[in-house]
Amino acid sequence: MRILVTGHLGYIGTCLVPMLLERGHTVIGMDSDLYRRSNFGHDPRSVRSIQKDIRDAQPEDFRNIDAVIHLAGLSNDPLGDLDPDLTYQINEQATIRLAKLAKSQGVERFLFSSSCSTYGAAGDDFIDETADFNPVTPYGESKVNVEKKLSRLADDDFSPTYLRNATAYGVSPRLRFDLVVNNLTAWAMATGEVFLKSDGTPWRPIAHIGDISLAFIAALDADRDLIHDEAFNVGRTDENFQIREIAEVIRDTVPNTEIGFAEDAGPDERTYRVNCEKIRRVLPEFEPQWTLEKGARELYDTFTAQEVKLEDFEGPRYKRLAHIQQLQKQGLLDETLRWTAQARAIA
Ligand SMILES: NC(=O)c1ccc[n+]([C@@H]2O[C@H](COP(=O)([O-])OP(=O)(O)OC[C@H]3O[C@@H](n4cnc5c(N)ncnc54)[C@H](O)[C@@H]3O)[C@@H](O)[C@H]2O)c1
Repeated sequence: MRILVTGHLGYIGTCLVPMLLERGHTVIGMDSDLYRRSNFGHDPRSVRSIQKDIRDAQPEDFRNIDAVIHLAGLSNDPLGDLDPDLTYQINEQATIRLAKLAKSQGVERFLFSSSCSTYGAAGDDFIDETADFNPVTPYGESKVNVEKKLSRLADDDFSPTYLRNATAYGVSPRLRFDLVVNNLTAWAMATGEVFLKSDGTPWRPIAHIGDISLAFIAALDADRDLIHDEAFNVGRTDENFQIREIAEVIRDTVPNTEIGFAEDAGPDERTYRVNCEKIRRVLPEFEPQWTLEKGARELYDTFTAQEVKLEDFEGPRYKRLAHIQQLQKQGLLDETLRWTAQARAIA
């Protein structure tokens, strides 16, 4: 297939693209490359890339494309809170416009990178894809609204699919330290403390970026009727943890560490415990390869080999919100998150 991957230069995209290429697909990327200064290890830019803001996509970007995997956007709750209107413009409006353009150019599949944060404050019981949405942030709301609007575009010629990813972890060439497993592991290695900002009680499903990538691939390969206008929770039912359980696994992985709590540690409103049986049942090609233990070990081994230091992850380089704010302060990104003339001159 010829696949357009938006956000292909982000944390998940740089893991997914090589896996698509290995399977013989042709990949064209579209990304404004907000995190070009956030390489971890090697530079991940490898495929033909349309360096463009998704808000500026044009019909010709979708010519001869069989499927779109849409990852681009403001990718977590803190970034979504930066400016809820921007979150609306990029995550919601631009996504729907993108889908309409794709549809108008005859693209048949549109895989949307949604999130389990659509469930928001869901409580302690396991929920599946039939559960009510209950988002508690602009980011979560944007994912809910996109799913609903994409569904209205579904017809005989256009099949949107909603992959509700669990919170990701794992090593990527566009690493993020603002995700719970990565963050706690790196912090523990640098300080000797697995440091919790909440009281550790909220539930989170987690998934390795390799397994999230496998889910996109399984949805690409599946018969159309299996994925048409369908939502899938992406993760493993047995990989839902309370944050303090994640902390315990990391404490047991990183030698000589203790668990500590912030002074004002309280409960976090976002708690959801997600049943992921549907994707295993409907898309048997999706065979997750990772567990928290294995992932924490991968992070520990990689951070040891690369000698990650406190300043590497305390600073803004690998944290999406802090990184954007730094680029704005330096005059490189404007308030609409477009590169400025100064940035273009440097590039
Ligand atoms: N990482 C997770 O835990 C997780 C969980 C659930 C869902 N998701 C979703 O998966 C997708 C990818 O997540 P990620 O962790 O790789 O995020 P990321 O922030 O690492 O990558 C997002 C990419 O999108 C690009 N981008 C952002 N705004 C853009 C715009 N206006 N135009 C063009 N490109 C733009 C960025 O440059 C970046 O390369 C996101 O939609 C995110 O909401 C992520």
